[in-house]
Amino acid sequence: MKESAGGTAQSGADIPLSQKLIKVIGNVCFSAFVVSVLVVTVIAITYQPPDPWFQSSAALTTSLSAVIHNSTFQNDDSLLRTGEDLVPLPSPSNSPPVVSVPPDSAPLPTLNASSPSCDVVNCSDPRVLAAIKEFNSRTFFRKSIVFLSYDTPVPGPKPGECDAAWRFRNRKEKSWRRYKDYRRFRLGPGENCTLDIVFVGKFRSGINAAKPRPRPRSPSAPTVAQITDVEINDTIPIVGSESEFKKGKYLYYTRGGDYCKGMNQYLWSFLCGLGEAQFLNRTFVMDLGVCLSGSYTPSGKDEEGKDFRFYFDFEHLKESASVVEEGEFLRDWRRWDRAGGKKGGGRISVRKVPTYKVTPMQLKKDKNTIIWRQFDGPEPENYWYRVCEGRAAKFVQRPWQAIWKSKRLMNIVSEISGKMDWDYDAVHVVRGWKAQDIKLWPNLDADTSPEALVDKLTKVLKPMRNLYIATNEPFYNYFDKLRSHFKVHLLDDYKEMWGDTSEWYNETVALNNGKPVTFDGYMRVAVDTEVLYRAKTQVETFSNLTKDCKDGINTC
Ligand SMILES: *[C@@H]1O[C@H](CO)[C@@H](O)[C@H](O)[C@H]1NC(C)=O
Ligand SMILES: *[C@@H]1O[C@H](CO)[C@@H](O)[C@H](O)[C@H]1NC(C)=O
Ligand SMILES: *[C@@H]1O[C@H](CO)[C@@H](O)[C@H](O)[C@H]1NC(C)=O
Ligand SMILES: *[C@@H]1O[C@H](CO)[C@@H](O)[C@H](O)[C@H]1NC(C)=O
Ligand SMILES: *[C@@H]1O[C@H](CO)[C@@H](O)[C@H](O)[C@H]1NC(C)=O
Ligand SMILES: *[C@@H]1O[C@H](CO)[C@@H](O)[C@H](O)[C@H]1NC(C)=O
Ligand SMILES: *[C@@H]1O[C@H](CO)[C@@H](O)[C@H](O)[C@H]1NC(C)=O
Ligand SMILES: *[C@@H]1O[C@H](CO)[C@@H](O)[C@H](O)[C@H]1NC(C)=O
Repeated sequence: MKESAGGTAQSGADIPLSQKLIKVIGNVCFSAFVVSVLVVTVIAITYQPPDPWFQSSAALTTSLSAVIHNSTFQNDDSLLRTGEDLVPLPSPSNSPPVVSVPPDSAPLPTLNASSPSCDVVNCSDPRVLAAIKEFNSRTFFRKSIVFLSYDTPVPGPKPGECDAAWRFRNRKEKSWRRYKDYRRFRLGPGENCTLDIVFVGKFRSGINAAKPRPRPRSPSAPTVAQITDVEINDTIPIVGSESEFKKGKYLYYTRGGDYCKGMNQYLWSFLCGLGEAQFLNRTFVMDLGVCLSGSYTPSGKDEEGKDFRFYFDFEHLKESASVVEEGEFLRDWRRWDRAGGKKGGGRISVRKVPTYKVTPMQLKKDKNTIIWRQFDGPEPENYWYRVCEGRAAKFVQRPWQAIWKSKRLMNIVSEISGKMDWDYDAVHVVRGWKAQDIKLWPNLDADTSPEALVDKLTKVLKPMRNLYIATNEPFYNYFDKLRSHFKVHLLDDYKEMWGDTSEWYNETVALNNGKPVTFDGYMRVAVDTEVLYRAKTQVETFSNLTKDCKDGINTC
């Protein structure tokens, strides 16, 4: 896995010059465009309260543009914020309400003294759960998470031990998604038959309670995995009958020049299409196939055949926007078009739009069932995001809040931070090609050297704390000097979480028609970002470690 980040540097050398040139031209255009968007948005905003919970969507767009801007081409790509980091959403009606379990204020429960089994602990006894809840309400990590619901504890391997499972949410995550923990508790009858918790295991130690409560899955869904996250439901929606299909209005983008570009450009473009669909009050036809740019793959080559659901939360997208999957859509379109043709008339009406120069505003009144944007021109004419340029930017809002990271990746994030009991600090160390470019970042390399890191971090962090390092530095042992001062954690320390015995592996294999999925550079970025954001103290490269500017010399 270590090669993946290193691939970034190597891939540069492998790309033919002409391709590079196209990229550079694209980059320049994209940057220029982004600057203009930013200027417009920044001017449009007069005052926003600083609390992200109250950020308006305009402010949200700005802050996300600030994340994405330039990142496509200039950013180190080592972090990516998405909707769940920025705005809270009300929980949708069909998902469990996010109500935290109130801490039990009752005194510690006692066993029934007159019962003969005073010293025998029965895990399904409600008083056991009450004791566990009470214990959790006092535990040191309660400030980091919200306890959402509990299952009835089940017996552990030994008498007196109970395994309890509960769902929680990290307070730093703004989504309503729930994560599971299960721990082993040893209970003992205290003096006078009180029920005391004498020992509690680590994160996910109570494996007897790990089995999820079954939720019916569709019969077609493969049942490969044993312990899977039953709360994930990202099946592809079916449009259904002819009349239902014809009732709908669709916006269909064919693949453009953005395909195989960096993930930030992918998002910037995808959200432009989705935004236009919302502006036109149409269903967006989306291609779940994703091509991962070579900068994120171990081989350094672009890889097709990735699934949107590896990276993003399709379930949330389905709930927050109107989308259909391209394959389903094309099948239905062909079928009902032919059927309509046979019956005489009644074919499905289509408006083909050959160029982005036809604006969303011009299409607003169009009554055709399908609006089909075709993107045939040469780069950069064929980039999706060009639809949202110019005056269109005033009308089309990118629905950033529709994009969350994949729950499957978030489960890994949850597990990493849970294993540290959410009690850790983190440092984001940007190196990679920026550290090599001493023209634009003259001090970065020296300021992120092992010695400089020791020097700086021992001043701002307490000794021997858990320290998570989010980084694009490929060399695992680079941070060894820090180990005598902190308990260092790197993403690669958690390899088993995506190894071939992991839950993630089982779940992605099931999504990928039984073929194993590589844990690629983009997934690493997603996980690193979220673990970093859950840390107690966060140390950033470009404000804490170095005076160099994020975007190169003289940009800050
Ligand atoms: C993006 O990067 C380019 C090149 O470094 C720079 O000229 C431009 O100002 C940057 N844009 C913003 C919005 O910072
Ligand atoms: C104790 O248990 C007995 C029966 O096992 C029951 O009759 C009695 O009410 C219980 N006492 C308390 C205080 O719960
Ligand atoms: C524990 O209590 C439940 C009911 O509260 C009972 O059904 C079960 O048999 C008990 N188990 C043991 C081992 O006593
Ligand atoms: C146990 O009961 C005795 C007598 O009722 C009392 O003096 C003692 O304080 C109790 N101990 C605890 C820990 O409650
Ligand atoms: C998953 O979601 C779809 C709607 O998108 C729904 O029809 C289906 O019943 C759900 N499946 C489960 C197992 O909840
Ligand atoms: C959007 O379309 C739906 C049906 O496709 C319709 O019921 C609704 O009124 C439309 N909304 C607007 C604002 O046009
Ligand atoms: C993954 O699936 C295999 C085969 O069904 C199963 O034996 C294993 O327990 C599963 N692992 C996890 C972590 O779910
Ligand atoms: C990092 O820099 C920011 C902005 O200058 C500052 O607010 C923060 O306290 C610094 N963090 C540490 C750990 O020094």
